[in-house]
Amino acid sequence: MLEVIILAAGKGSRMQSNLPKVLYPLAGRPLVNHVLDVARALGPERVHLVVGHGADLVQAAANAQDFVCHVQAEQLGTGHAALQAITSCNPDSTVLVLFGDVPLIGSDSLHGVIAAAGPGVALLSATLDEPVGYGRVIRDQQGGFLAVIEEADASPSEQAVKEINTGVLAAQASALMGWLSGVDNNNAQSEYYLPDVLALAKEQGAPVSVVESTNGLDTLGVNTPQQLEHLERLYQAKLVDQLMSAGAVVADRSRLDIRGQVQCCRDVRIDVNVVLEGNIALGEGVSIGANCVIRDAEIGAASQILPFSHIEGAVIKSGAVIGPYARLRPGTVVDDQARVGNFVEVKNTHLGKGAKASHLAYLGDAYIGSRSNVGAGTITCNYDGASKHRTTLGESVFVGSNSTLVAPVTIEDGGFVAAGSTITEDVKADQLAVARGRQRNVEGWTKPVKTEGKG
Ligand code: UD1
Ligand code: MG
Repeated sequence: MLEVIILAAGKGSRMQSNLPKVLYPLAGRPLVNHVLDVARALGPERVHLVVGHGADLVQAAANAQDFVCHVQAEQLGTGHAALQAITSCNPDSTVLVLFGDVPLIGSDSLHGVIAAAGPGVALLSATLDEPVGYGRVIRDQQGGFLAVIEEADASPSEQAVKEINTGVLAAQASALMGWLSGVDNNNAQSEYYLPDVLALAKEQGAPVSVVESTNGLDTLGVNTPQQLEHLERLYQAKLVDQLMSAGAVVADRSRLDIRGQVQCCRDVRIDVNVVLEGNIALGEGVSIGANCVIRDAEIGAASQILPFSHIEGAVIKSGAVIGPYARLRPGTVVDDQARVGNFVEVKNTHLGKGAKASHLAYLGDAYIGSRSNVGAGTITCNYDGASKHRTTLGESVFVGSNSTLVAPVTIEDGGFVAAGSTITEDVKADQLAVARGRQRNVEGWTKPVKTEGKG
């Protein structure tokens, strides 16, 4: 039986921030959520999450019921943190300990460590060119394991060692509990160190295995803003690479960020400085221009998103053209061949086939029938200060520039609104509505003249 303990109680002082470290996002998700996913994928009997600093926030972010929470009230070290959960584990279980700040740990490495633990304890190590900040794995001349020495306690020759402790460890629960109870805090940080259980196990003659990871991303921990940025860039390069393998042609792999799940068909083109968040589906031949931010959207075949557009919670069918500088908010549906142009904001609105709002408009809580044309400067007045109301345009409606459509209001098929109108009443099919002051040209008008000495 397998149980997983995730340590996530630490403050993360080196981040110099009020946000608990394990809540910092990597590819848009908190570090601890990545670790929980990995733990779940192993199919364990139980997952234990040790929380402490910002416990409520961490528990809320984890947002699930399928783990047992343990509170480490005082953060006295990783050994002390593991002790908070180990007492709830079945003594016969194999326990795998993961760190909430090592987010990309891979399941292959974990299977290896679990298999190696047996009746003893197994540790996952990695060799890094720059091991600064990690605990070093110290071996004897024959290469046998001696101890893990934290950087703060390490001599210069120990600090030169490049093999590091990833933090991942597996052992049988009852044995681990015994070793954890024996760990002291006589060290440079006065903390109870989890990796000290390895030296204790060795002293007691239990088998100690070190499994070496060969996956570069797998083992990187996040303690500082620099490490977070470094890991984010490495991870993004991997995600963008996967997207390119699915058929996306990306202008610059270092200028696309993926913070969610992106499904992509063939011949998708993505220009520079694009951020894709949440769940996104891109149909065949979609192109996304430079500097677009797109979240939770479905974009149909051959649609073009022109530069500087911001799209959230929208469904765009095929052959549509959005932007440049368009903003689509949640509840937007853009049908085939429709057009949303520059400085047009659309919210909870359906644009039918071939409908157009090409410039400077706000369309909120509206239905725009197919082939209708909304002129520049048109606003749906959907909010009366208390409630939202709908605006409905039939097919082939023409709304002249700078019109104000005061909802609730309907303009039937073929209706025509003269430019500059304030429409407060429904317009019947094929009617022309003019709702503005008539122009008056005054003959013989004299301009005001300035009086001497004044103003
Ligand atoms: C730890 C290891 C180090 C290893 C590195 C790998 C120890 C003593 N050191 O160092 O050997 O190379 O991870 O990334 O284990 N935590 C608690 N309660 C505490 C302290 C920490 O839950 O009292 C949690 C933190 O939230 C974090 C994890 O344990 O998720 C690791 O703690 P951190 O302080 O980051 O340890 P490192 O210095 O990185
Ligand atoms: Mg750490």
